[in-house]
Amino acid sequence: MRCTGCAQTIAPGELPKSFRCKLCGELYEVQYPGWSGPQHARPNPSALRWLWRERRSSLEWADRSGVWRFREMLPIVDSYSRIVSLGEGNTPLYDLPRAAERLQLMQLRAKHQGMNPTGSFKDTGMTAAISVAREQGVEWVACASTGNTSASMAAYAARAGIRSLVLVPDGEIAWGKLSQAMDYGALTLQLRTDFDGCVRVLSEVVERAPVCLLNSVNPYRVEGQKTAAFEIAEQLEWQVPDHLIVPGGNLANSSALGKGFLEMKQLGLTSRAPRISVIQAEGANPLVRSMREFGGKKLEAVRARTRASAIRIGDPASWRKAVRVIEETGGWVEQVSEAEIAVAKAEIGAEGIGCEPASAVTLAGLKKLVQQGKIGAEESVVLILTGHTLKDPNYTIQYHAGELLTAAESAALAPEIQRTRRNAIKLDASVDDVLRELERLAQ
Ligand code: F0G
Repeated sequence: MRCTGCAQTIAPGELPKSFRCKLCGELYEVQYPGWSGPQHARPNPSALRWLWRERRSSLEWADRSGVWRFREMLPIVDSYSRIVSLGEGNTPLYDLPRAAERLQLMQLRAKHQGMNPTGSFKDTGMTAAISVAREQGVEWVACASTGNTSASMAAYAARAGIRSLVLVPDGEIAWGKLSQAMDYGALTLQLRTDFDGCVRVLSEVVERAPVCLLNSVNPYRVEGQKTAAFEIAEQLEWQVPDHLIVPGGNLANSSALGKGFLEMKQLGLTSRAPRISVIQAEGANPLVRSMREFGGKKLEAVRARTRASAIRIGDPASWRKAVRVIEETGGWVEQVSEAEIAVAKAEIGAEGIGCEPASAVTLAGLKKLVQQGKIGAEESVVLILTGHTLKDPNYTIQYHAGELLTAAESAALAPEIQRTRRNAIKLDASVDDVLRELERLAQ
């Protein structure tokens, strides 16, 4: 375990409960010293590529999982026969032909991490962290969450026979996610505060009770989440895209994907890493402000406001890691408005794919990067869609019924909203009325 702040290394057994360095307060990451040693001592790239693909036809859980079939890249458990898996990963990489045409891009794809067992990318990290927790004999796990982490943790903990404690901001998370935590049997406490308040309470609880922290400061979560990078490379026949666009909340996922791509390059599996850009909602933009106002050297917490509740985070834990990945890969940060998010979400829906609001910031942000000339027509782009459209159906229905955005929010994007809203129309049970609507739309 290496501290990402002061570079001090410790053995995994010495990790503090907070997963923060006792010397500098920064977060740890898993490091594999053998990989920087002599070439002959490192895994062979061609053999790995063959093995990883071959495992997909095996009947073993560890082989079929889109996380554990890459286990040479995350040697973090002692026994692969005892991992806790729900068959995560192996998610689709879709073309987005209509969005590509509108943006005049030749290669635009979406890696849909919402197609995981509990409907979000969190499952890829959770299988790793819960498997480690079970090996360590942990009895309770806990997280503070905007919804997806809690849904995922509750499911994996239940599978492992570990009890789970969830702290979520009352009234601030999408119903689909809250229902999942309850369904999977977590002790689900809705605190009268925001996400950042839940994190503060949990950090005290972790110090005073025998619970293992499962937020993304847990370095094993990052190890699991980095495997999406391996899948993308594999799905593109080991050609890396030019750009990867990721939503930014607590800022662990952007750093996890960066770690994955940089490790592949280190081992000679690929020749380069993509530029990794992070997109935030305008009302929850602490990283954007940090980069613009302080060159990424300092971050001032904000009071977060956005309807994309998954990324309603004002004081992100992993911001330093994210800054490093953006700088190392040559990516950018951008922010998008509520109307831009809503339109982008409807466009992703109209591709027959769909995603939750937080995921749609990627397409909204891409439009801005293209407009600014940062991404060219010939370059390949992969958007990371982090959550399933069914996570937050209220948002979708309100948008199409014209009840989501205020007049002021909609003003700048009126034509786009008009184009993407599939009016939620209510009629009497009349054949003529239905035919009239059909004719109206056919014109
Ligand atoms: N997209 C979705 C759907 C999310 O649920 C999250 C984070 C993010 C993007 C941002 O990822 O935090 O790694 O930058 N959700 C967390 C949760 C915070 O509690 O479910 P990040």
